[in-house]
Amino acid sequence: MAALAALFSLFALYLAWYASADPDPSPADESPIALAAAEGPASGATAASGEAALQGDAAGAGLVKRGEYLARAGDCIACHTADKTRPFAGGVSISTPFGTIYTPNITPDPDTGIGRWTDADFLRAMHEGIGKGGEHLYPAFPYPEYTRVTEHDVLAIRAYLNTVEPIHYAPPRNELSFPFNLRWLMVFWNLFNFDEGRFVPDPKQSAEWNRGAYLVEGLAHCEECHTPRNIMQGLKSADRLSGATMAGWHAFNITPDKTSGIGAWSGGDLTRYLSTGSAPGRANAAGPMAQVVEDSTQYLNDEDLRSIGVYLRSLPPVAGGETRARDQWGKPVQDDVTNLRGAKIAGVDGAQLFVANCASCHAWSGEGVGASAPGAYPSLIHNSVAGAGDASNLAMVILHGVTRTTKDADVLMPEFASQLTDDQVAAISTYVTRQFGNPAATITVDQVAKLRGQQQ
Ligand code: HEC
Ligand code: HEC
Ligand code: HEC
Repeated sequence: MAALAALFSLFALYLAWYASADPDPSPADESPIALAAAEGPASGATAASGEAALQGDAAGAGLVKRGEYLARAGDCIACHTADKTRPFAGGVSISTPFGTIYTPNITPDPDTGIGRWTDADFLRAMHEGIGKGGEHLYPAFPYPEYTRVTEHDVLAIRAYLNTVEPIHYAPPRNELSFPFNLRWLMVFWNLFNFDEGRFVPDPKQSAEWNRGAYLVEGLAHCEECHTPRNIMQGLKSADRLSGATMAGWHAFNITPDKTSGIGAWSGGDLTRYLSTGSAPGRANAAGPMAQVVEDSTQYLNDEDLRSIGVYLRSLPPVAGGETRARDQWGKPVQDDVTNLRGAKIAGVDGAQLFVANCASCHAWSGEGVGASAPGAYPSLIHNSVAGAGDASNLAMVILHGVTRTTKDADVLMPEFASQLTDDQVAAISTYVTRQFGNPAATITVDQVAKLRGQQQ
């Protein structure tokens, strides 16, 4: 009873807050800054002149082109495509602590997709997290970030989605446990974790900074993975971008802290990482970040990538207690293989397993093959995964391999989940961190077993 009363008072509080908030969608839309511009007809146009150009057919094509660019910046395809032959038709299962959510079909199919949605319905979903029937959407859909995107840009995405092939496909129903299957409960989640409203440019900052902020805080939703969460699964904005774990992967601290974050990276390192997935001597993108690079950031133009760097470098650095940057560990191994010759190996041996499974590509010295050419087999020395304080990503890379297709290269490291047992993965990981990375990062067989069980 008391809990019910508390719920009702929270609800009343929410209504009062909502009534007084009076969200006004328009001002940021008049923003003079050049927002992420599409390549093609509208390229380079300022928001104002772009607006004026949106009259004729050519401008309509420009709008669609811009929408395609923005849909990539927002990575809609990653979550809304379960099967590559059915782009945007949904059906991706997203596991949350409360159960499994299946993403909806957002192709223009009238029955199973969003073909019957009005522009107003679409805007309301992106800005307020509310579906066509007025139901609350779950924040597995990043509306807490998309709310910052201008009305003009949301409508450009809509214009683009209208042009994709309509696919008749109804994704499975969500499997959420009580009470999380009650959508209206999101009212409370929103109350504490959602701040509706468009991006407001900061006139004291440069156009470049504002552009970066608009992308990072909005469409590109970097915080969804890189910001730690509170017990309600909302973002802890005080520690923004200081690193978080999702589906077994640690999305590293990307604040400008020199030791715990990416403060020592040059703008060029970041641009290269986001456009190719590889910043030699620093990091490679595997797992969820490989997908972000493949589907989203590789398509951003240099100006936008640079702006993201300018904005990230301006954020408050968050220290995590590391003593050395994760990309500053390791030296080549000189003697291990010779030691192995003729030696009797007892049980599971990391060095032997490394030579047998990994050295063909990464060399027994750990220095890799092909140096920094696109698609090279990277050095494990000065690599953020081998040097991280926690070996989870390393074990995940061994279990799942790396696949990343960009205009630069088809990158492939095979998965070893089907070939190596948990104790073998643990032994190789510990060998790699000791020889090439951060020797303090060890991993147990139980931890590997847990990581193996994570749904990807
Ligand atoms: C991180 C994953 C993720 C990304 C990225 C994402 N979505 Fe979604 N989206 C979801 C999920 C999950 C839902 C369903 C939420 C629910 O069931 O309450 C959803 C729901 C929607 C809906 C409501 C559809 C309906 O039938 O109710 C629309 C519209 C939508 N997304 C559009 C987009 C667009 C446009 C983008 C890119 C700008 C995008 N989404 C990117 C996960 C994502
Ligand atoms: C879907 C989750 C997800 C999203 C969204 C995401 N990241 Fe990541 N990011 C990760 C993960 C996981 C890693 C670790 C990858 C690895 O171990 O190879 C990572 C790694 C990185 C790294 C390398 C750090 C290092 O030291 O190795 C950078 C830089 C980075 N992300 C920047 C960004 C930026 C900028 C954005 C927004 C444009 C973004 N990420 C969006 C999950 C994500
Ligand atoms: C067939 C060649 C091949 C084999 C065998 C191989 N790798 Fe890789 N490895 C790669 C490639 C390719 C990449 C990704 C390069 C890139 O991102 O551009 C990679 C990346 C990595 C990374 C960096 C991941 C990141 O996110 O930064 C680590 C660590 C790694 N491999 C360890 C291993 C270990 C340990 C083994 C043995 C169990 C192994 N590799 C076996 C080719 C291989």
